[in-house]
Amino acid sequence: MTDFLEPLRCPLCGGSLERAPGCLRCAAGHSYDLARAGYVNLLPPGKKNNAKTGDEKEMIRARSEFLRRGFYDPIDEALASLLAESGPASTDGGDRPFRVADMGAGEGTHSCRIAALLAENGKRRVDLYGFDASKHGAEAGCRLARSMGLLPKDGIAAPAEEWTSPVRAAILPGNIFRLPLADASMDAALSLFAPVPWDEAARILVPGGRLAVVSAGREHLGELRRILYDDVRLTDFHPAPPDDFRRLSLLGRRTLSFPVTLSSQAEIAALFMMTPFWHRVGDAGRERLAALDALDVTAEAEISLWEAVS
Ligand SMILES: C[S@@+](CC[C@H](N)C(=O)[O-])C[C@H]1O[C@@H](n2cnc3c(N)ncnc32)[C@H](O)[C@@H]1O
Ligand SMILES: [Zn+2]
Repeated sequence: MTDFLEPLRCPLCGGSLERAPGCLRCAAGHSYDLARAGYVNLLPPGKKNNAKTGDEKEMIRARSEFLRRGFYDPIDEALASLLAESGPASTDGGDRPFRVADMGAGEGTHSCRIAALLAENGKRRVDLYGFDASKHGAEAGCRLARSMGLLPKDGIAAPAEEWTSPVRAAILPGNIFRLPLADASMDAALSLFAPVPWDEAARILVPGGRLAVVSAGREHLGELRRILYDDVRLTDFHPAPPDDFRRLSLLGRRTLSFPVTLSSQAEIAALFMMTPFWHRVGDAGRERLAALDALDVTAEAEISLWEAVS
């Protein structure tokens, strides 16, 4: 089985990364310390301590609490079967696991679950590389990956021979607009509720590789929005690259709708905190929501599938 580190690249010089005591290092001597949570920080210098580029810690915690209760599982199931149907795009002779990059992975719940389901559905090994600007996201993601047996105790720098699980996964601090990944190294790329780096997705995918993009559909969380705002305007948003972009072609779009039943104020608050409304809503809306102890909402995800053109 190929080394998990193989497709990773130094964010400074693009060189490959090798294990060294307590860190990963490129041939030019740039080194990336192994954090206690098991990741190495591959954000380009200058962005490393810029907390504003990532979701704050409390939003990450809310997202973890919400997602780990399984409320958005139908999205993970849909993506895993979509990618499993795509077949292995890899031309590598079968020894190399199916590689997936999650661009804007947040706290990694979707990433880890999709990787596990994909391995189950497609009966193949899966390597998952999640990247997020938030260090807190990477921490939470690596903790989850460890608890699911997808990342060893020694983290991403663990010796290759000790990291042989059928699914291997790590969430790393990294900039999705300058992914620390080799050209044509991924069989699939994911973007869930995050900005879409079209150029980078096209660069890292093998020819024929798939990009799945998930965005909020028109009716997404409509019931929640109607409580928060007096006047709700529904808008259609279909993520797409610029018109003259030819390196990804659209295979299809579908809308996935499912009910989410929240049965406590804690669950309602966790959902609210992970939405963009949390920063924007006025006091009246907050108070109306805080008064509830149950809420039925509709989740509506728009999923588009793209193919990398050689
Ligand atoms: C709404 S969250 C979605 C997270 C996750 N995909 C999910 O669905 O739970 C969007 C994420 O994109 C990340 N993000 C935004 N710009 C980024 C960038 N330039 N590089 C890496 N991550 C970025 C944010 O830190 C945030 O965690
Ligand atoms: Zn380097």
